[in-house]
Amino acid sequence: MLGTNMESFDQKSLERVLSQRALQMGNSFPCKICVVGFLCGVCLTSLFLAALTSFGAFELARTPSLTFSGGILKTDSTSGYAIIGSDCNSKQKEKERITFSQKSAIIEIDERVQRLYSVWSNSLSKSASEKGQSGISRLDGQNFPDAPHLENCRLRVEINRRLDSRAENESSPPWTIWKGMLDNFPLTTDEQQRYLRHQLTSESAYLPWITGSDEENYPLTRKVQHDIWFHQHPSNCRDPSIRFLVADWERLPGFGIGAQIAGMCGLLAIAIKEKRVLVTNYYNRADHDGCKGTSRSSWSCYFFPETSQECRERAFELMQSKEAWEKGIIRAKENYTSKEIWAGRIPRIWGSPWSYMQPTTEINGTLIAYHHKMDRRWWRAQAVRYLMRFQSEYTCNLMNTARHEAFGWEAAKMVLSNMNSDVEEQDAVEKDRHDIEKFVWSNHKPWIPKPLLSMHVRMGDKACEMKVVGFQEYMHLAERIKKRFPHLNSIWLSTEMQEVIDKSKSCPHWRFYYTNVTRQEGNTLMATYEASLGRETSTNYPLVNFLMASEADFFIGALGSTWCFLIDGMRNTGGKVMSGYLSVNKDRYW
Ligand SMILES: *[C@@H]1O[C@H](CO)[C@@H](O)[C@H](O)[C@H]1NC(C)=O
Ligand SMILES: *[C@@H]1O[C@H](CO)[C@@H](O)[C@H](O)[C@H]1NC(C)=O
Ligand SMILES: *[C@@H]1O[C@H](CO)[C@@H](O)[C@H](O)[C@H]1NC(C)=O
Ligand SMILES: *[C@@H]1O[C@H](CO)[C@@H](O)[C@H](O)[C@H]1NC(C)=O
Repeated sequence: MLGTNMESFDQKSLERVLSQRALQMGNSFPCKICVVGFLCGVCLTSLFLAALTSFGAFELARTPSLTFSGGILKTDSTSGYAIIGSDCNSKQKEKERITFSQKSAIIEIDERVQRLYSVWSNSLSKSASEKGQSGISRLDGQNFPDAPHLENCRLRVEINRRLDSRAENESSPPWTIWKGMLDNFPLTTDEQQRYLRHQLTSESAYLPWITGSDEENYPLTRKVQHDIWFHQHPSNCRDPSIRFLVADWERLPGFGIGAQIAGMCGLLAIAIKEKRVLVTNYYNRADHDGCKGTSRSSWSCYFFPETSQECRERAFELMQSKEAWEKGIIRAKENYTSKEIWAGRIPRIWGSPWSYMQPTTEINGTLIAYHHKMDRRWWRAQAVRYLMRFQSEYTCNLMNTARHEAFGWEAAKMVLSNMNSDVEEQDAVEKDRHDIEKFVWSNHKPWIPKPLLSMHVRMGDKACEMKVVGFQEYMHLAERIKKRFPHLNSIWLSTEMQEVIDKSKSCPHWRFYYTNVTRQEGNTLMATYEASLGRETSTNYPLVNFLMASEADFFIGALGSTWCFLIDGMRNTGGKVMSGYLSVNKDRYW
């Protein structure tokens, strides 16, 4: 059970205990953490270590240094990202040797692909670094084909900002069934239509950040997201009846990103139960130079803030008031025990929708229909979805970069294969946009290879708190999915272990994508490993992997890890309940 007396340990005493116990336990690193956890009465382990997935040296906006691989079309030799399984197989290699004439033809294609890839890379680094130009497709007056895998982050954020605030004198944001840009389509017709659309808006049934039908999401997802948004965005933050809960993110070094988020989910539950507006404060993970201006050290560096600017300001004002503290108008995280935060009751205002959640998780060959703490699973899914409802421009750019490094080469090949080299430029110039592109197709998500399987492999330092299984087990599950869905070839692999990456190279039927990383070799302490990467990298990488995983179509992981648990939450509130989740183990509380 989660403990109550954690706050009686300050960090120093934690460290002292850790080192004492470590001496007694010799080299058994994985269990050190458990020991501390049990000493504190807090099973920290399930909360931390979970977060860091696969990450490493992430060169933002790097310009590709493309090399020819002797004319062999090999995606991976250039981006260093996509490894084609068959590459690891020496027999396949033989097959790839090709005759001279074929070779020169391929080199020509290769050159064009390379050129396009670099153009995209350049426009990407420009849009990530410059705050002026927004378009990612137009560069220096030149015209090149659009990059299907890149998103116009400036525009996306602009649209979302509008969707995340009320228009003047309106009771709710302009949420309608007219999606994204379509809502800007100049209407030729009259007030009548506007009125009808407004009617829809006021019913507010259409949440722009929830996709999929209701059956494809956890019970009541739309309703709950709607209610949380309104709870967090009172129309007048200065109304004296509005109370606040201001909370810093966890920042003990042992807390991984996943644990921090899980903690905040608990605080959001408290805020809802006590009818307080949750205001998140210092976020150590955003305390780096990538997060500019007011977004520094704030959740808003990565995602839209949890509440409105007015409410944040009001809350910070109230923090200065002794009276407000005394009257309980404002509370801080410190006013709650860790038991209340980590294991508190889930809000009941929606009844108990978790009791009829769809059973779509398989563990060890069994479809799990019931387990303990289903309420917590349901709630965390709702809370993490709400907190991540809209990405910041910074995150959007990180995702662009990640997609470009992973899929950019493939995208360039795909785009060029549709074009005759002579007409290439011309075609591209003819890019005068039709309305359907501008208003309708612009709302599609950027391209990634589909279907994509998300696989998160946890092992190494987790041994003490969950059943750890080898990579083969995960691949075995992947094969099972493939048997049913034979068109599935691509895996987004996230893992902190170099060993897993090495092993993935001997799986011929799969195409693995992963970030180019410095990974752990052996049992390094996660916090040490993180420190070696630096704050910015060690935050951006896992987040990028997390968001990429939540875009997948199929899921394999270890639900015993908080990180996978949260990805599962994104699945179940992202219209993917029916994708199912194959887990190699279960949460310790189930
Ligand atoms: C991966 O990143 C490292 C360090 O940033 C770099 O030296 C290396 O070339 C990259 N590998 C590939 C295959 O791109
Ligand atoms: C909002 O309401 C106020 C007061 O009722 C009014 O003066 C103002 O013009 C309204 N604004 C809009 C955009 O309708
Ligand atoms: C809440 O915590 C603050 C300090 O963080 C303290 O000053 C205040 O007295 C606490 N209030 C209650 C009701 O415990
Ligand atoms: C998984 O199932 C097999 C048989 O179906 C059983 O022998 C094994 O103990 C189970 N493992 C776990 C961890 O439940």
